[in-house]
Amino acid sequence: MSSQHFLTFFFFLFLSCNTIPSSTSSQNKDTFDFVRPIDRKLLGLTKKEKLSHFKFYWHDILSGKNPSSVSILPPSLNSTTYFGSVNMIDNPLTLGPELSSKLVGKAQGFYASASQAELGLLMAMNFAFIEGKYNGSSITILGRNPALNKVREMPVVGGSGLFRFARGYAQATTYSFDYKSGDACVEYNVYVFHY
Ligand SMILES: *[C@@H]1O[C@H](CO)[C@@H](O)[C@H](O)[C@H]1NC(C)=O
Ligand SMILES: *[C@@H]1O[C@H](CO)[C@@H](O)[C@H](O)[C@H]1NC(C)=O
Repeated sequence: MSSQHFLTFFFFLFLSCNTIPSSTSSQNKDTFDFVRPIDRKLLGLTKKEKLSHFKFYWHDILSGKNPSSVSILPPSLNSTTYFGSVNMIDNPLTLGPELSSKLVGKAQGFYASASQAELGLLMAMNFAFIEGKYNGSSITILGRNPALNKVREMPVVGGSGLFRFARGYAQATTYSFDYKSGDACVEYNVYVFHY
């Protein structure tokens, strides 16, 4: 070994001895345990992102022996907009506007009156589907619903199963509303990007 090679050898030995316990590598190790970039192939995300349009009807049933929508908090005193009231829902989602038409899932979550000036609901719900390959997958909606407007738009903030990494929006249009019972049927059109 020439003296130059010998020096290089020692130089690398010095470098490797020095880098292993250095703070940079221990930081790398710590962040590796907590977070690391991964190849999207590992999550099967090599397929092109799809855009899908789902259409179904959401039934808010307050009347009868088996309501799907139950008031769990009353409105604050004297509120004309039901401000403060909260309904927990497990509302059927059907293909057609009739409750007897095919059930494709349930809307599970709650809506709360969040406006003192008008009827403005905060919607927080998961569309839990049971139809076909979407059985077991869900879309999460979190948004503002000024319920008396013709079309209300709410963001899709995510999803599970086939809706991992989902984003998009839902448009709600009231199909029918019974002022006596409070029962409502609302058409939902959901536009969602997913894999
Ligand atoms: C509600 O309205 C009644 C009747 O107008 C009034 O007497 C009462 O003070 C009001 N309550 C609140 C909390 O504003
Ligand atoms: C959906 O999946 C569940 C659990 O895997 C199963 O029990 C149920 O029969 C399925 N429903 C439909 C409509 O396929």
